[in-house]
Amino acid sequence: MTPAENPPIYAVVLAAGKGTRMRSNRAKVLHTLCGVPMVNYAIGAIRSLSPERTLVVVGHQAEEVRAGLPPDTEPVLQEEQLGTGHAVRVALGAIEEEDGILLVVNGDGPLISDRTLGGLVERHRSADVGATVLVAEPPDPTGLGRVIEDAGVVRIVEERDATVEEREVRQVNLGLYAFGLPEIRDALGKLETDNSQGELYLTDALEIIGRESRAVTYRLKDLEEANLVNDRAQLARAEEILRRRILDAHMRAGVTVRDPVSTHIEATVEIGRDTVILPGTFLRGETKIGADCVIGPSTDLLDTVVGDGASVEHSVGRGAGVGAGAKVGPFTYLRPGTILGTDSKVGAYCEVKNTKVGDGSKVPHLSYVGDTEIGERSNLGAGTITANYDGVNKNRTRIGDGVFTGVNTSLIAPVTIGDGAYLGAGSVINKDIPPGKLAVGMPARVIRDAPGNDKQKRTRDETEG
Ligand code: UD1
Ligand code: CA
Repeated sequence: MTPAENPPIYAVVLAAGKGTRMRSNRAKVLHTLCGVPMVNYAIGAIRSLSPERTLVVVGHQAEEVRAGLPPDTEPVLQEEQLGTGHAVRVALGAIEEEDGILLVVNGDGPLISDRTLGGLVERHRSADVGATVLVAEPPDPTGLGRVIEDAGVVRIVEERDATVEEREVRQVNLGLYAFGLPEIRDALGKLETDNSQGELYLTDALEIIGRESRAVTYRLKDLEEANLVNDRAQLARAEEILRRRILDAHMRAGVTVRDPVSTHIEATVEIGRDTVILPGTFLRGETKIGADCVIGPSTDLLDTVVGDGASVEHSVGRGAGVGAGAKVGPFTYLRPGTILGTDSKVGAYCEVKNTKVGDGSKVPHLSYVGDTEIGERSNLGAGTITANYDGVNKNRTRIGDGVFTGVNTSLIAPVTIGDGAYLGAGSVINKDIPPGKLAVGMPARVIRDAPGNDKQKRTRDETEG
């Protein structure tokens, strides 16, 4: 094909509406499916057509919607939501070009595929018409505009404006259109608000264009894509389909998913081959799992990176890094800033925050470790706790290589434990320990009033006492 036969595409995503039927304080297009805002799915499908520009009409909660848009899109503000026709008018105000195809996509169809958009544009080009609209006959057409096609004229009637006979029509409008730029500009100028909502309906442009230069329909191939989202029941249905698609893609790429029914993997997550995902597992955000890992059961990882061959069971991770071959869990909480080295271990009932655990080091049982650096091949005894917070400041603990702490060691930060040091069971460490030394004992003694405990209160307590 020559460039002359392939006119440029300008895409417009309609995302300014409130979404009343969601009964939500958040704009409909901000609701997420598999971790991604609804509107981003439409944008993703459009991207495959390599449009010249992708404009997103924002209005309701414009700032929030705008903040989540990908950088290859341009927000256009529709100050008042006067209808879908008005929204496209606002978008056209930002397009100077005279020729090309205007692709209009409602922001609430997250399952619409790039294949469908491509097919719509192809049909529009090859039929050489002024407008093309995507239609389908879903099992339940309730709430959608009915499409009546007759000799090059396509008329769309909203359900609330339809006669009894028109409501019988099964063919519906899915809110995806290709227009010739000159034709849609002309038609939008002629729209009127003579409908039950007093809005400017984009759908009326189809009839106007049809009468002047022909309009056609393009039929959706896969009815699954017709799952538009207007309320939360439909949101859940669409998300379920997306969730299964994501799982299928991982399984086809070599990941074992033991129980797809209970496994939730967001669209943004990456997983290496031969990794096994056990039941009840949530992998979310920017989580990346290496190859040959075992994740789960009952594990929830958000923005967490796991190296090859690691295992994480019955645990929660938030912004953590787990090294290759490391073992986590059961019942471990890895908080932001935690970096576990190669072949390290953080075991049962441990919480770790903003801490580096060196290669081969172990925190096997019942510990809280925060704001700490642990060297290589060190072992923290059961119940070792860092007292990293003195009520005002967070202080760091440094533990060298090959350190051994006995059970119930308390490390009062800031404190440094030298390489090869050995701390006896129950010791309370509030001074630096030189390398290679054994330290034991409990230096606790009364030194002064606890913060907030003044003399008056103490006297009263003693009286009551
Ligand atoms: C629209 C169609 C209907 C179709 C259905 C498919 C019209 C008049 N009707 O109805 O035929 O079956 O979509 O989902 O177009 N929006 C704006 N600005 C506005 C109004 C809406 O940006 O002023 C956006 C919304 O955010 C939404 C999209 O346009 O993403 C569709 O709006 P919505 O109110 O959901 O239209 P429907 O009533 O569902
Ligand atoms: Ca809708």
